Amino acid sequence: MKGIILAGGNATRIFPLSKSISKQIMPVYDKPMIYYPLSTLMLAKIKEVLVISTPRDLPMFRQLLGDGEDLGMKFDYIVQKVPNGLVQAFVLGEKFIGDDSVCLILGDNIFYGQGFSEMLYRVQLHIEGAYIFGYYVKDPKAYSVINFDLDGKVLSIEEKPVCPQSNYVVPGLYFYDNSVIEKAKKIKPSTRDEYEITDLNRLFLVEEKLKISLFGRGFAWLDMGSLDSLLDAACFVATIQKRQGFYIACIEEIAWRNGWIDNEKLQQLGKKMGRTEYGKYILSLLT
Ligand code: TTP
Repeated sequence: MKGIILAGGNATRIFPLSKSISKQIMPVYDKPMIYYPLSTLMLAKIKEVLVISTPRDLPMFRQLLGDGEDLGMKFDYIVQKVPNGLVQAFVLGEKFIGDDSVCLILGDNIFYGQGFSEMLYRVQLHIEGAYIFGYYVKDPKAYSVINFDLDGKVLSIEEKPVCPQSNYVVPGLYFYDNSVIEKAKKIKPSTRDEYEITDLNRLFLVEEKLKISLFGRGFAWLDMGSLDSLLDAACFVATIQKRQGFYIACIEEIAWRNGWIDNEKLQQLGKKMGRTEYGKYILSLLT
């Protein structure tokens, strides 16, 4: 399975912060935002990742993440000239995906909770059709809302409905089989002129190939698109890390635990940042 991080967009909701710099490169407590979605792909054991961003910002991601070799991974990069919708990830990424299945994650999403790695691993092992998630929120109107029956069968999926049928919304994490490429090409722009992922998911729904799993109430999903959510996410990460001492989204740690890099490499990576708490944490894993 391949992974795609969509890290473009205009980030107009956090102007002027993002007028000259990418939102997904901004710090979320002690690391760049993109580390969080990247760590989710790594927990799903996905080694090949495509980063999609704007012509302005892509070079910065390349500088930050390189070719992935340091983590025992492989990173590719593609420009999205105009941020005209999430579905474009599969059209732009066609060659990268090849004959594989694919996981798309939005560059400003954080997922954190017990059992998450195992859940991801199980999902990516058996992908047929589409697999998405549901998360209960107080106000679902700004999201893609799913309605399902007692057996978990999806009945409908609607983008930003005026009268939501449920409080369950779809977070920015999607798994698809290879048919997603052809389906993505069929999607037409919506009234707000975007290639909507909800329309793509609906194509899987009519074929009865749209499956969901629900995240429980103890699970954290934050999207960092607004100033408040950016601050909430930083406070959340700081609180967990200071209290437990375990780091959220330490990509070097995950690569090492996955067996993609050895002790020597981990030490080398830690030493480069040895003056920071982040670097010290990496080195502490070896003792
Ligand atoms: P959004 O939050 O929908 O858009 P945005 O980040 O540009 O923010 P704003 O609403 O403040 O203008 O995007 C969600 C994520 O997907 C974010 O990481 C940006 C990314 N994205 C793209 O990379 N390309 C796109 O075409 C779109 C629509 C989003």
